[in-house]
Amino acid sequence: MSSVSAWRIALMFFASAFLTAAFAADNAPKKAGKEVRIQLGVGHFNRDGKAFHYWDKEKEIPAVCARCHSTGGLAQYLQEGKTSPAPQVKNGFACSTCHADMGTFERRRVEKVTFPSGLSLDSGNNDMNLCMTCHQGRESTASVNKAIGGMPLDTPNPKLGFVHVHYFPAGAMKYGTEAKVGYEYEGKTYAGRFNHIPALNSCTGCHDPHSGELQEQKCGQCHRDRRGGEEKAATVDEYKKELYAAIQQYAHNVGGTSIAFTPEAYPYWYTDTNGNGKIDSDEIRPDNSYKAYTPRLEQAIYNYTFVLRDPGAGYHNGRYALQLLYDSLESLAQSGKAGVSIRDKQRPR
Ligand code: HEC
Ligand code: HEC
Ligand code: HEC
Ligand code: HEC
Ligand code: HEC
Repeated sequence: MSSVSAWRIALMFFASAFLTAAFAADNAPKKAGKEVRIQLGVGHFNRDGKAFHYWDKEKEIPAVCARCHSTGGLAQYLQEGKTSPAPQVKNGFACSTCHADMGTFERRRVEKVTFPSGLSLDSGNNDMNLCMTCHQGRESTASVNKAIGGMPLDTPNPKLGFVHVHYFPAGAMKYGTEAKVGYEYEGKTYAGRFNHIPALNSCTGCHDPHSGELQEQKCGQCHRDRRGGEEKAATVDEYKKELYAAIQQYAHNVGGTSIAFTPEAYPYWYTDTNGNGKIDSDEIRPDNSYKAYTPRLEQAIYNYTFVLRDPGAGYHNGRYALQLLYDSLESLAQSGKAGVSIRDKQRPR
């Protein structure tokens, strides 16, 4: 262990921003020489992470992925509204990915955020808009509806495959129905932005912008649990477990083959050929991806994965996460084929 921490210390460096008068506008008290600790290998500089190496064997990072995975894609997207194929990243993001000026460390201007649903908003906080330009997912209610459009709800259709919302979509969770990145069932209403206390209502109020680390030491001041919202987060986990079991029952009964999730490889949901409830290594093969999706299964799996992909769902917007899970469970229960009942639950309002 000691060699790991020595390595970390060796790679750690300090950056100071001496805020100039121009930067400290409206006579704000001058924060002189604020020191920021940046650790290579951690968070946005996690240079060994999959998010930075997925394209190692390819010539470049494709345009559709470059906004969130390359050094300069974000800047190009903000300026031109589009991205071009980009060179590989070797060290994770660069300082210039987010900072427009390396003298003042001013961040890139982000006037509004457009989510995959097509909905746009301005959080009123430039840094938060910046975070949400990447932490927003890649699919939405609209794209799921497009995939299942016109198909009978409980008939397996080989045209359907897994619709993956993508990783760490925290901004979309935070904004709930204002972003519509979760799958929202017709006829239901959903929670919008979860508003916490003003000082800790933005991404950088709770997270360090460089390492991503949660500023947990701030929580205890007001919350008696280690951090606020632990109870909600535990309920989210509980609902998630029940939804997973219902998904497996339903797929077995309606699709005719069993399904299970593995974190190991895309598309994550495979046919559980031996029916042991999990995906064994010999079941992880491209030709063994799950193929008996019905529209109802597509909706439920989409929501399960959305909540799973935001490990902070219970904190970012517990109400929205629970509404999505509840409605997915309810839908599967209504099929009569999932072995679940939701009579013991109440939909969070
Ligand atoms: C809107 C922003 C956005 C776009 C566009 C995007 N990604 Fe990502 N992606 C992310 C974020 C944020 C993460 C970080 C989560 C993580 O590492 O788990 C991530 C993580 C990943 C990972 C690592 C997953 C893991 O297991 O850790 C892979 C692989 C990936 N993306 C592939 C792609 C591909 C391929 C494309 C283009 C087709 C793409 N991404 C486009 C935001 C995006
Ligand atoms: C993912 C985006 C992102 C990347 C990449 C990034 N920063 Fe930052 N940085 C921010 C944000 C957002 C803030 C403001 C944080 C706050 O208000 O607490 C910030 C603040 C700072 C500050 C303090 C400035 C001030 O006004 O308080 C310094 C110094 C800094 N960053 C240096 C760096 C350096 C050096 C790098 C590259 C090694 C880097 N940053 C990479 C987003 C980023
Ligand atoms: C250019 C796209 C981009 C921007 C902008 C961005 N992120 Fe990220 N973020 C990522 C990717 C990619 C990862 C995954 C890195 C990895 O492999 O660990 C990530 C990881 C994270 C993590 C998890 C870190 C960990 O190691 O578990 C947090 C938390 C996070 N980001 C918060 C933020 C916040 C807060 C902001 C705004 C200040 C922000 N991000 C801006 C792309 C982005
Ligand atoms: C009220 C505080 C709070 C706010 C505001 C907040 N988060 Fe979080 N976030 C958390 C907590 C708590 C977790 C769970 C951390 C854990 O389990 O280790 C988390 C988890 C995450 C993760 C997953 C990190 C991982 O490695 O599993 C990402 C990414 C993330 N947040 C990004 C964001 C972004 C982007 C925003 C702004 C849209 C945001 N968060 C706003 C508290 C907050
Ligand atoms: C200055 C006081 C204060 C601090 C500090 C604070 N919170 Fe809170 N938080 C509140 C208040 C007030 C509420 C609303 C009442 C409630 O539900 O407990 C709340 C509610 C929440 C909720 C919603 C709980 C639910 O059941 O819906 C979450 C999640 C949360 N806080 C997370 C955090 C995290 C994470 C931190 C530390 C990064 C934090 N809070 C720090 C005051 C604070």
